[in-house]
Amino acid sequence: MKKIVVVGSQGTLGHELVRSWNDSFVEERIASQFGETPNSEKDHIVSLNLPDFDVCARLAAIETICEFHPDVIVNAAGVNLIDWLESRPNTARTLHEQGPVNLREAAKRCGALLVQYSCGEVFYRSRLEQGVVDKRERAETPENARSRVRAFDDQSRLDLPVSPDAPGFDETTVPNPASVYAKTKLESERVASEAPDYLVLRFSALFGESTQFSSGNLVESLLNAFRRSKRVSAISDRVVEPLWAIDVLCATKTLIRRGARGLFHLTGGSRGTPEDVARFLLTKSEWSDRVVSGVTTAEYGVSAPHSSFTVLSSSRYEEIDGLYRVPAWQTALTDFLDWRRRKTAS
Ligand SMILES: NC(=O)c1ccc[n+]([C@@H]2O[C@H](COP(=O)([O-])OP(=O)(O)OC[C@H]3O[C@@H](n4cnc5c(N)ncnc54)[C@H](OP(=O)(O)O)[C@@H]3O)[C@@H](O)[C@H]2O)c1
Repeated sequence: MKKIVVVGSQGTLGHELVRSWNDSFVEERIASQFGETPNSEKDHIVSLNLPDFDVCARLAAIETICEFHPDVIVNAAGVNLIDWLESRPNTARTLHEQGPVNLREAAKRCGALLVQYSCGEVFYRSRLEQGVVDKRERAETPENARSRVRAFDDQSRLDLPVSPDAPGFDETTVPNPASVYAKTKLESERVASEAPDYLVLRFSALFGESTQFSSGNLVESLLNAFRRSKRVSAISDRVVEPLWAIDVLCATKTLIRRGARGLFHLTGGSRGTPEDVARFLLTKSEWSDRVVSGVTTAEYGVSAPHSSFTVLSSSRYEEIDGLYRVPAWQTALTDFLDWRRRKTAS
């Protein structure tokens, strides 16, 4: 039995990690891929979140964690509100940089593995079509846009529009974050990678059951919008890959079990726009009479640079035997809706 401390345990991912870590459903989902008997070993899970636990409060955070003598510290704390963080760089730095610094120190002191989650937004790409740009890009000359990513000057061609069919970014692609959110998430990766033992797991987008504490997610936002209105807008010029929180958990568990270390991309090899996700949801839900209309990111209205393409691929993950294969988002979304119905019915 391992002791696992989950930080940020009330968000979409953190809540699922705590609730389902020892759930037989998760082990059955993993085992079904290998034709094996589900693992019945249970771990001891410790759940830490605001207001009782603040990952940014250095000494208190380190001491609290070390009292549990964890084998693994999983950091699911964060804020994903990209526009909101753009005007609050200090908040973003405190949470995404100082928080992991504290966890890295706790991991060093306890000899624990540190698991840090990150995102596809670390790869900034401008809009798909020339001339369709978000508000911030519109205000910029090409020279300004280039200087904004000047830290990545040698990579400046990466700021060019990308085709929706382009291959996903793998672990060797050099990141070029543009938003405050993405820059601080990249820094969280760097900090975590200085822990003696670490996993950094990037994924494009996340869905799962929202909690009252989570910053929301694409699927729950769409389901809420279907509930409220007949016509629902969804972004059509951004290509993403949504992963179910349960699949992130399955992948995390097998990576830990296999002793894998370092940076990995989690991907099911399928991609789509939020509009595609909305249309797919309609075919699977009771709201088939709803109408989805595609809007551009500019029409939707954003104030921070949002990457138009956060699709990931993984050469490293595929090389390791025994790791959970993340399913395509269409399969995961179907499973999520069934699972949600079963939970509501029971
Ligand atoms: N959501 C996505 O689409 C997505 C995509 C790619 C990667 N990721 C990554 O996945 C991870 C989890 O994302 P998520 O969507 O589950 O986030 P989330 O729903 O917003 O949850 C974040 C959790 O962190 C907690 N938290 C915030 N500040 C804290 C602090 N100072 N100390 C302790 N806990 C704190 C929040 O608690 P309060 O609510 O009480 O503040 C909340 O429970 C993040 O690293 C994120 O960058 C997410």
